[in-house]
Order: sequence, then C-alpha cells, then structure tokens
Amino acid sequence: MLIVYYSQSGASAALARAAWQGALAADAGEVRVARSWDAGSRELLAARGLLLVGAENAGSLSGGLKDFLDRTFYPVSAQEHVIPYAMVISAGNDGRNARRLAETMLSGYPLTRATDTLIVRGEPDAASLQRARELGEAFATGLEMGIF
Ligand SMILES: Cc1cc2nc3c(=O)[nH]c(=O)nc-3n(C[C@H](O)[C@H](O)[C@H](O)COP(=O)(O)O)c2cc1C
Repeated sequence: MLIVYYSQSGASAALARAAWQGALAADAGEVRVARSWDAGSRELLAARGLLLVGAENAGSLSGGLKDFLDRTFYPVSAQEHVIPYAMVISAGNDGRNARRLAETMLSGYPLTRATDTLIVRGEPDAASLQRARELGEAFATGLEMGIF
C-alpha cells in the first residue's frame, strides 16, 4: 500500500500520519509513505493500493496531488496497472469540490475507488485523526483480504 500526500500547513500531513498508523495497525503488508513530489510511477506501479491525502485549494485538488496524478497517468495506463484507491481531503470549510473533481479525474485513471472519500474540515482534531486512522486500517485490511 502506498500513501501519497501533499501538505503545506501540516494538516494533510497529520491526516496522512494517522492513516499510516492505522494501516500499520492492520498488520497487512508493507505500507509506504511518500510526499507527492517524491513519488512517481515507479512507486505507484509497485503498489497494490493507493491512499491519497491532500487539501482542497481554490476549489480544486491541491497542486501537489494533481501533479502526482498527471505525472503517473501515462506510465500506469500503459502497464494497465489497475489498483484500488482511497482518499482523504483536508479542507478549511468545504472540500466537496476537490472531492468531486478528484473522483471525476480518477475515474479516467486505472484506479478504482475502494471507499468513500473522507473530508476533514478545519484543523484535524482527535476525532478526525481517528477517522483517518480507521480509514487507513480498513483500506489496508481490505487490500490484504482482496475485497476491493
Ligand atoms: C491557496 C489555498 C486555497 C484554499 N482553498 C480552499 C477551498 O477552496 N476550500 C476549502 O475548504 N479550503 C481551502 N483552503 C484551506 C485548506 O484546504 C486547509 O487549510 C487545509 O487543511 C490545508 O491542508 P494542508 O496545508 O495540509 O495542505 C485553502 C488553503 C489555501 C492555502
């Protein structure tokens, strides 16, 4: 499982960390974490599942995650590497536009959505970090069991 995140303020990074801890708790195979700038098609082609974590910026998916998806589209499509994905969006007060745009964009990728996208509004608190942790754990468990 590969977790790719992009964060400016640390909010998305905290959610990615929580999801990573959940995935580790599932004890269901290797979990790799990478900042979006450090990840590319090689990491994605090696993964059995992708968890994206990033913000809504100006009503869209944050540039770092968009860049990662743009860079990996051709290599991953060419390999027909179809894997499940899940997503956590950090937002100030909305997040729905980023979710809609990202899910539309991803529907054209060789990625299938495994779970409902989690939107966290405002600074992540203990409850939202717990939700991110649970999402990471459930996604990792589902991947290991082959249910996605
Ligand atoms: C340039 C910019 C644009 C933003 N646009 C939105 C927006 O359209 N909707 C929203 O709900 N929050 C918006 N926000 C707030 C961020 O989504 C929110 O602070 C998020 O937690 C940032 O996470 P990150 O810093 O870890 O990437 C924006 C923040 C920035 C810096």
